[in-house]
Amino acid sequence: MCEDIFVYLFGYGSLMWRPGFSYTKKFNAYIKGWKRVFYQGSTDHRGTPEAPGRVVTLIKQPEETKDTEEWITWGTVYAISDDEALATLKNLDYREKGGYERHELDIYLDEQSMVSYGKAIVYLATTENEEYLGEDTIDNIAQHIFRSIGPSGRNIDYLLKLANSLHEMGVVDQHVFDIEKIVLELMDRHQINHHNSLVENLSLSSSPTSSMLSSINSLVVNGATTTGTSGSSPGTNSPLLDEKALELLHRHKRFYMKPQGTVIIDQGAVQAISQRAKSLLPVGIIGFTGEFESDALVTIQDSNGSDISRGLTNYSSKELALIIGKQSKDLESLLGYFKGESVVDHTNLILL
Ligand code: BEZ
Repeated sequence: MCEDIFVYLFGYGSLMWRPGFSYTKKFNAYIKGWKRVFYQGSTDHRGTPEAPGRVVTLIKQPEETKDTEEWITWGTVYAISDDEALATLKNLDYREKGGYERHELDIYLDEQSMVSYGKAIVYLATTENEEYLGEDTIDNIAQHIFRSIGPSGRNIDYLLKLANSLHEMGVVDQHVFDIEKIVLELMDRHQINHHNSLVENLSLSSSPTSSMLSSINSLVVNGATTTGTSGSSPGTNSPLLDEKALELLHRHKRFYMKPQGTVIIDQGAVQAISQRAKSLLPVGIIGFTGEFESDALVTIQDSNGSDISRGLTNYSSKELALIIGKQSKDLESLLGYFKGESVVDHTNLILL
């Protein structure tokens, strides 16, 4: 009898809620001697090169503390069939190119077990990588996350998705939960919710004050479009926004409005858009709900109904009904005109 051969991949960050690859099974497990921390800078997903966001990596437990403290980190293990592992890891190498490298660590299944279940591949960013930000107070990390945003979306969404995955698993991660608590308080104080507004990353050397954040927030909520640009004195509406920040703000504010519909996509499309370099093609769409015009905001879900992304469509729901599941090369003959090969361009989507 032929035994299935798997490669195990341990996810402790975004892989927990958005793996973006197919797997044979998944289960919870932990690693020993490592701690999940928001010490890695993100210049390509949750921040920009000018103002990096903060995402998680793992730090190794110092030898001298091993007798007194136990460091464990819970995460999700994916069993990937051997024949898909190479392509999956290649895709992840690209997605996690911002300082992360592959390591192999022992995984454990329950807190009593002394014996490793096996080895798993783990992506971690070491202190030597260029984007490493390192330690800071919990308050500073929370404020940093609160004001950061990048091409993949808001840093707060990354934090809240991570915290939520851990709450659902029923495990405690004090570092993550302490930051979550402060960020939720900040969101509450500035009336920022999950969908209708965002704060802009401002390349500030110090944390923004409440009044700064309020003015940024009201700018987004009110949809203001004019303000000071670099080289001129800042406008009264938004004394903080430089040209780059304003452009990012403009590009992102629509993603936090109310979506007009939902587009459901297959696993291949999830993988493609999770890399951020690929657009959503009609061939990857398996369903949609709602009535919307072109240029509408839609939620993008996987086939399990999990929200993966939000994006602006090139095609209306009426057009989508005609091209769903079709090859891009056939769009012109199906519609009688051509509005682009993708339903959502990769530059017009954020990841959740
Ligand atoms: C993770 O979920 O394990 C992960 C994701 C991105 C970078 C590093 C780790």
